[in-house]
Amino acid sequence: MYPYTILINKERPLAPDYRPQNLVCADFAFAAAPDSEKRLLEKETALAAREMIADSQKQGLALYGISGYRSFVRQKELYEASTSGYVAPPGTSEHQSGLALDLSCPQVGLQLVEGFAQTPEGRWLYRCAPLYGFIIRYPREKETVTGYAWEPWHVRYVTRALSLYLSLTKMSLEEYWNI
Ligand code: DAL
Ligand code: ZN
Repeated sequence: MYPYTILINKERPLAPDYRPQNLVCADFAFAAAPDSEKRLLEKETALAAREMIADSQKQGLALYGISGYRSFVRQKELYEASTSGYVAPPGTSEHQSGLALDLSCPQVGLQLVEGFAQTPEGRWLYRCAPLYGFIIRYPREKETVTGYAWEPWHVRYVTRALSLYLSLTKMSLEEYWNI
């Protein structure tokens, strides 16, 4: 079984040549070119995200996938081009696992910005992501634990059992792994 609960961070990097074997192309609303690598997600992650997006659309919301899988090379390019502190060093990004997905909505111009959290889509995601196996991986109150600023747009698939547990206990993945 795929290691869905794996902890990936600066102290726990993936191998430089790591590439998930079970990547599939996301088939839900996605703001990226049809053949873009950004649309790739680990298979179970993609199915859970599709269900989540479909249910949000039934509420009249417009969530869009922005960025899923990234290769080591792509993460390196992003890291070297960014001074924001938001981008993980190559080898240490959850996006390389296919288990992470950035989402946004038209109200904030499909940008990955803190203002997303105040949109109906961002509020719904915060409330409902755990029902589909996802956690908001870098919460506002956990910067010192996760090592990253608040990212209300970045969800990480950890399975429904763990997402519900983390949501109820308000633990980050680092705290769950007792690190
Ligand atoms: N923005 C997150 C930390 C990443 O680059 O994986
Ligand atoms: Zn992200």
